[in-house]
Amino acid sequence: MKNELTNDILKVLYTEEEIRARVRELGAELSERFAGREPLFVGILKGSLIFLADLIRACPIRCDLEMMAVSSYENSTVSSGRVRINHDLQQDVRGRDLIIVEDILDSGNTLAFLQEYLKTKGAASITIVTLLDKPSGRRKAVTADYVGFTVPDAFVVGYGLDYAQFYRNLPCIGVLKPEIYEKQDRT
Ligand code: IMP
Ligand code: MG
Repeated sequence: MKNELTNDILKVLYTEEEIRARVRELGAELSERFAGREPLFVGILKGSLIFLADLIRACPIRCDLEMMAVSSYENSTVSSGRVRINHDLQQDVRGRDLIIVEDILDSGNTLAFLQEYLKTKGAASITIVTLLDKPSGRRKAVTADYVGFTVPDAFVVGYGLDYAQFYRNLPCIGVLKPEIYEKQDRT
């Protein structure tokens, strides 16, 4: 379908249907592992919002939810390497089984930082779930416990992932046309 979002997409990597099927599988695996443990999902805003909403509905177990907001990117496609907490946990997570839900694991800066940070808060366990993994971007030794899809070395948007805050509402995941960000990054 052509619209002002899809016009900027070079190639669709995962359709809405493919994403739905994969999220259901992840939900089933997590539910099996965490049944009876009342895990706490920690969604990382804003990118994980849509994935998180679908994922928790695919997990028919007792669980609760926290959101954290961190930033490192500042409207560029290249990580600045610095991570800042813009919104923190609202409850004590000591002794809890935490499930971090992230949109994409790229350089690893964000998740390396969050893993350390949540350890200092006394979590019983920390499990990382990322919708997308981009191994080619890795600069820190972080591995996710659950990965939706492994993506090639390209800037992707949709299903929560943005470029300069746009395209989060695209229902599929696609590669952005390079001319869209080349215009901006040069400034
Ligand atoms: P990392 O800290 O480099 O692993 O990157 C994590 C964050 O960078 C993600 O939560 C995204 O917000 C952003 N990011 C990295 N690669 C992409 C991409 O291809 N598209 C959109 N956002 C990305
Ligand atoms: Mg982002």
